[in-house]
Amino acid sequence: MHLKGLVLAAGEGSRLRPFTYSRPKHLIPLLGKPLIQYPIEDLVVAGVRDVGVVIGYFGDLIRDYLGDGSRFGARLTYIVQEKRLGIAHAIYRGVEEGFLDREFIVYLGDNIVSGGVKGFIKEFLENGSDVHILLAEVKDPRSFGVAILRDGKIAKLVEKPKEPISNLAVVGVYLFRDPDLVVKAFKTLKPSWRGEYEITELIQWFVDNGYRVTYSTITGWWKDVGTYESLLDALYILLDRIEPRIDGKVYGEIRGRVIVEKEAVINGSVYGPAYIGRNVIVEKNATIDHYVSVEQGSRIVSGNIMRSMILDHAEININKARLIDSVIGSHSSVKCYKDIYGDIRLIISDYSKVYL
Ligand code: G1P
Repeated sequence: MHLKGLVLAAGEGSRLRPFTYSRPKHLIPLLGKPLIQYPIEDLVVAGVRDVGVVIGYFGDLIRDYLGDGSRFGARLTYIVQEKRLGIAHAIYRGVEEGFLDREFIVYLGDNIVSGGVKGFIKEFLENGSDVHILLAEVKDPRSFGVAILRDGKIAKLVEKPKEPISNLAVVGVYLFRDPDLVVKAFKTLKPSWRGEYEITELIQWFVDNGYRVTYSTITGWWKDVGTYESLLDALYILLDRIEPRIDGKVYGEIRGRVIVEKEAVINGSVYGPAYIGRNVIVEKNATIDHYVSVEQGSRIVSGNIMRSMILDHAEININKARLIDSVIGSHSSVKCYKDIYGDIRLIISDYSKVYL
């Protein structure tokens, strides 16, 4: 496949602070692998191996993790976007650096598309259009770019509309035929109110100048991970689709669909859907109670955990309490010194300590 790929991972992830004070959001793990690995693997599965990764904020951490990409079957080229000037600018950087020299697919590093992108690439290659985008119906379009259709064709794209003018969100996957045209379009753009060169405006240029802009509608699920709500939503969706597998040691109880990775030890109870990472220990007095991921090296000593994400090397020791709808950072610990009955909700970043 000659198409090239571009994965964008330069953003600051400000809505995911405080986590993004110590890592880019693209390295937040979901079921044992960082967010950015999902788009990269989708591209590889679709036959796209030459992939550019646009980095900026904490870019070195992303580079350290992904390396040359051979572990994932990809050949990675890093492109630095020093200033966060938006998606259109990141794509322009890809052309400017000489990497994007033929048709290409852009995949935002914080988007997860169920079923991958293989089918969409095929559609784009067959239909001969200049730009191909993906649309998905959403309940609240205000945090996305949206498309307005006229006679089944794209008439207008609007970034983050204040009024609900359309419920068709533009997904973070874009296919372009000609890099030179992208440059031509980019040069006409001005930064938006948020100081970014918007992808929606770049594509609007193609519409306005008579080029063919086509779309596919996504029927499966799609997640753009920008907030804690969407991060937990992505976790729940991924957990709903896991293939159960027990590679660790289970002395306690497991019910429902659960993954237990190698070297994990379960002495307590785990009720699925749940993900238990490598080297995790779930002690006798601990219950993992639906829609939970515990990343590698964490220790759950006591308490009940529900609908939560526990990142790596954390420790939870909360006696009779229940941790719910929470996100606990790497190397953090939560301890109850007295018996708390009832729910605790915490969003705490890496290396935090909470004593209750
Ligand atoms: C960006 C795009 C928007 C698109 C969204 C998809 O938004 O600007 O058009 O709908 O990604 O994830 P941002 O993540 O910058 O808010």
